[in-house]
Amino acid sequence: MSGPNTDYDPVEVTALQAEQVTAMRDEALAAFAAAGDLAELKQARLDHAGDRSPLALANREIGALPPQARKEAGQRVGQARGAVSKALADRTAVLEAEAEERMLVEETVDVTLPVVRRPRGARHPLTLMSEYIADLFVAMGWEVAEGPVLEAEWLNFDALNLGPDHPARTMQDTFWTEPADDHLVLRTHTSPVQARTMLERTPPIYVICPGRVFRTDPFDATHSPMFHQVEGLVVDEGITMAHLKGSLDHFAARMFGEGITTRFRPSYFPFTEPSAEVDMVCFVCRGEVGAVDECRTCKGEGWIEWGGCGVVNPRVLAACGIDADRYRGFAFGMGIDRSFMFRSGAGDMRALFEGDVRFASAFGTDW
Ligand code: DAH
Repeated sequence: MSGPNTDYDPVEVTALQAEQVTAMRDEALAAFAAAGDLAELKQARLDHAGDRSPLALANREIGALPPQARKEAGQRVGQARGAVSKALADRTAVLEAEAEERMLVEETVDVTLPVVRRPRGARHPLTLMSEYIADLFVAMGWEVAEGPVLEAEWLNFDALNLGPDHPARTMQDTFWTEPADDHLVLRTHTSPVQARTMLERTPPIYVICPGRVFRTDPFDATHSPMFHQVEGLVVDEGITMAHLKGSLDHFAARMFGEGITTRFRPSYFPFTEPSAEVDMVCFVCRGEVGAVDECRTCKGEGWIEWGGCGVVNPRVLAACGIDADRYRGFAFGMGIDRSFMFRSGAGDMRALFEGDVRFASAFGTDW
């Protein structure tokens, strides 16, 4: 049998001795004071005020003491812990204020400083328009075809039924290149891409070919020795002029607005038979009575000349290795620069090629 534990001396619980508790408190206060920023203070808090800190561990011993000793030790530890949490709160407030001040200084923006103006560039409107055109045909399942700008004379002319003596061969003011024996030209139109495509692919062929072309024209308000065309070519069984008309009506509506349709005027191109000039309804006055006479865009015509087209001449099909008895095709060609000019209202063709970024910025976001 054991009696009450009268000779239990609380002083023997080392952690609860007054000097020990004071030392723990002072260490905690010193650690908080030494913490230079909130991260260091967090570590000091875990070490000295956390669940496993010396004071917290000492606190756990209290319960085992007899009542009187428990009261004394409780007060001692309680005061020490109170001092520790106050010191912690004070130091936290100081370090937070410092951090905020530092942030205000470091992240200051001087709104009065002059800015470096970096003007925004813009893609060239003709590039955007070419991509827009290609996209609208790709959306119908066509493919984009390309050819070189330095082109074989045979593909630029002969394959398209423009034989050596054909008047159109000299009418298209061609840039010939040296040496003449190479028989290369700067392509005068995008139509050689038709010939290339037919030589490379087998029908059904549905291609759209935007690109640069060259002619020995002056550089003035309405001409440029380099400009852009877009060529369309379809070769399939049972193709008729109606397919051509439908495709061009769709093209015109997507380029110039719903309701803008096309009309054909008989014409002649060696590579198409029959051939036609394509006009489209003037997208400004729409040919409406009352508006058309005043219209400056179509000059009172109600129609705007847009390009050339036709049913692919069977001689061209044959020259490019396509069975002309089985397949029929249609083709068309338009000036992209021209389309851009009347759509944008730009009056001088030189603006398109002078490279002034202000021109691109003004129109480069439109498409
Ligand atoms: N290549 C012709 C030109 O530059 C335009 C053209 C007309 C293209 C009729 C065609 C077409 O595909 O069928 O003037």
